[in-house]
Amino acid sequence: MKKVNNNFPHEGFKINSLGHLTLDGYDLVDLAKKYGTPIYVISEKRLKKNYQRLINTFKECYPEKVVIAYAVKANYTLALVKVLISEGAWAETFSGAELHIALLAGASPKNIILTGCNRLEKDFEEALKLGVGLIVIDSISELQKLEKVAGQLGVETKILIRVNPALTIPTHPMIATGVRGTKFGLDIESGEALKAFEKALTMDWVRIVGVHTHIGSQILKVEPFIETAKRIISFVKVLNEKFGFKPELLDFGGGFGIPYKPGEKSLNLQLLAKKMSRVVVEGFKKLGLNLPILLFEPGRSLVGDAEILLAKVGNIKDSSHGKFVYLDASTNHLAPVLITNQYYEIVLVNKANKKPREKVVFVGPLCFTGDVLAVDRVVPKVDMEDIVAILNVGAYCKSAYIMHNAYPKSATIMLTQHEAKIVQRKETFEDIVCRDIIT
Ligand SMILES: Cc1ncc(COP(=O)(O)O)c(C=O)c1O
Repeated sequence: MKKVNNNFPHEGFKINSLGHLTLDGYDLVDLAKKYGTPIYVISEKRLKKNYQRLINTFKECYPEKVVIAYAVKANYTLALVKVLISEGAWAETFSGAELHIALLAGASPKNIILTGCNRLEKDFEEALKLGVGLIVIDSISELQKLEKVAGQLGVETKILIRVNPALTIPTHPMIATGVRGTKFGLDIESGEALKAFEKALTMDWVRIVGVHTHIGSQILKVEPFIETAKRIISFVKVLNEKFGFKPELLDFGGGFGIPYKPGEKSLNLQLLAKKMSRVVVEGFKKLGLNLPILLFEPGRSLVGDAEILLAKVGNIKDSSHGKFVYLDASTNHLAPVLITNQYYEIVLVNKANKKPREKVVFVGPLCFTGDVLAVDRVVPKVDMEDIVAILNVGAYCKSAYIMHNAYPKSATIMLTQHEAKIVQRKETFEDIVCRDIIT
């Protein structure tokens, strides 16, 4: 007998007496009917839980201060960022716009980390005028620009230098950053990173407080993080011996993966926190240094499973090549399908208690062949007007939205304890053309 699919990402999902999928007690069929599709749905409860779980796991293992800075790039829906900031997260921002989003969401400038890899003087000037707490430097040319701008403004600025540990990172190559030869960070092995620290330590306006690295995204194994910590500690040893440098802070970036496929194994966060803390504590003890603050910049692991996308079946084509189910959502909504071939689970929300019966291909309405959301999915019998939920779309979907065929961006609802509320309205046709000028 075929099993009913109940491999939902977390305990917020349930099936009600109507056989509909619910999230935090809200009937998703009702939401789709009331607000229309496609529509994103965020669980406030899940967001808060994800943040608390992450910070508490690290706090339990590490005896000094731990900071979680939300990587705003993962999803910059203002209401979502606000929830995380209100919970106590700092913000990691990679652009001027992300910086402003963090401020609008209530982040204190001193709790904002500005990362990037191609900052111009005007970007640093803006960040310093806004009072950004920590700037992560990616190259010597950036370092020189920042020193110049900080001097002109007469503002001393705290920095980290991003280094590349050059490891094998088990993730899609498009999102592996801590491997040899990427555009990110300064190589430890070749001495590039050391040179940058040497330079920074002689500067008047930049005050280097630690080391930064970010090895990639969607990493489900503990080992690469531990190996990174070991390489950073060895690098700190060299910095200490050569320059007497004592880091106040180590920033390990983000990268914690989440399961996307039913049954996929999660990252063992407890083990990661325990092992990583041990490496840092023992390493610093051996060097006779005070323990640094540990900083992490998670994006995906905070928001990935806290948002879903509801869509409706518009047409069905039973072809000799398979059954095509046309949704009103598309790969515009799911850029990671195109970039990293990311898998997204799709559930028929109005038939959540029905057994899988047929194999289908979910496609969108866009005019290119690759507009395929999922192939060979075994689901209950699909009919016109069925509602589907595309799960785990919280990270790098909305923020990487593609505008193919000028389909407007969809609205977003947030589910709170008290209400389901629109937190981002749907884009209108006028929004789409509002920057165009014709004479
Ligand atoms: C510098 C930096 N920090 C943090 C992150 C967040 O990574 P993740 O969403 O995998 O946690 C990224 C993602 O690309 C990044 O580039």
